[in-house]
Amino acid sequence: MSALSIQGVSRVFETAQGQRTQALLPVDFNVHDNDFVTILGPSGCGKSTLLRIVAGLERPSTGRVMLDGQPVDGPGADRGMVFQSYTLFPWLTVAQNIRFGLRERGMAEAAQKERCDYFMAKVGLRGFENHFPKQLSGGMQQRTAIARALANDPKILLLDEPFGALDNQTRVLMQELLLGIWESARKTVLFVTHDIDEAIFMANRVAVFSARPGRIKSDIAVNLPHPRHYTVKTSPEFMQLKARLTEEIRSESMAAAH
Ligand SMILES: Nc1ncnc2c1ncn2[C@@H]1O[C@H](COP(=O)(O)OP(=O)(O)OP(=O)(O)O)[C@@H](O)[C@H]1O
Ligand SMILES: [Mg+2]
Repeated sequence: MSALSIQGVSRVFETAQGQRTQALLPVDFNVHDNDFVTILGPSGCGKSTLLRIVAGLERPSTGRVMLDGQPVDGPGADRGMVFQSYTLFPWLTVAQNIRFGLRERGMAEAAQKERCDYFMAKVGLRGFENHFPKQLSGGMQQRTAIARALANDPKILLLDEPFGALDNQTRVLMQELLLGIWESARKTVLFVTHDIDEAIFMANRVAVFSARPGRIKSDIAVNLPHPRHYTVKTSPEFMQLKARLTEEIRSESMAAAH
């Protein structure tokens, strides 16, 4: 059984003026336990829409999403979501943000603190417990959002261009950080990105979306060994995948522009 099964999920948006946009064509896609799947596709092809449907924040027009055999019909603690833009609660400190879901669940104070400390250390934020989001850099805010998602111990992590707004250096560090966490904790991850290098480096599968209306155009296995270091990006296997994906994305981006 797949951890996540996306079955015939499509989405049409309709504005108040009655203008219809088919954001997604019916998508069938399975994500297995411990898979790290990246979704790559041109802007506007429905990637965020699909992720929001999986998160239960948006309803599909057709089809359904199953998580461990149960239909998804709203947001839940079993899915941890990290968005592209910073979505911390600005009135809460870093530690309060990370502990938010744990508190909601009624976890004992000491256990909350222990979990929070563990994930703060994991993302390199020790010492910033009492800072507010506006006192952090963008990368630190994003690390807090990732720590918050991980602290809730979700079944599956949904990441929508989590590093999109970061400078290249920070982005690479964050990629290595998340990959290291995945290599040790084996989470199931669905990760949306525009960046081909990032898509290959992180994943064991890359799903390429077509231009809008989106559908999955190809599903490519990435068999690079783990643990992966940044140097893998210069290997012939990586270059070969990159050439193939670059070509696929180029043709879709051109289709999107017309
Ligand atoms: N709430 C909404 N109401 C109306 N249309 C929407 C809504 N959300 C998304 N859309 C439309 O659905 C399409 C897909 O949007 P979506 O945000 O899923 O794309 P994306 O692949 O995530 O793009 P990007 O890479 O730029 O983030 C777009 O044409 C967008 O205008
Ligand atoms: Mg998007």
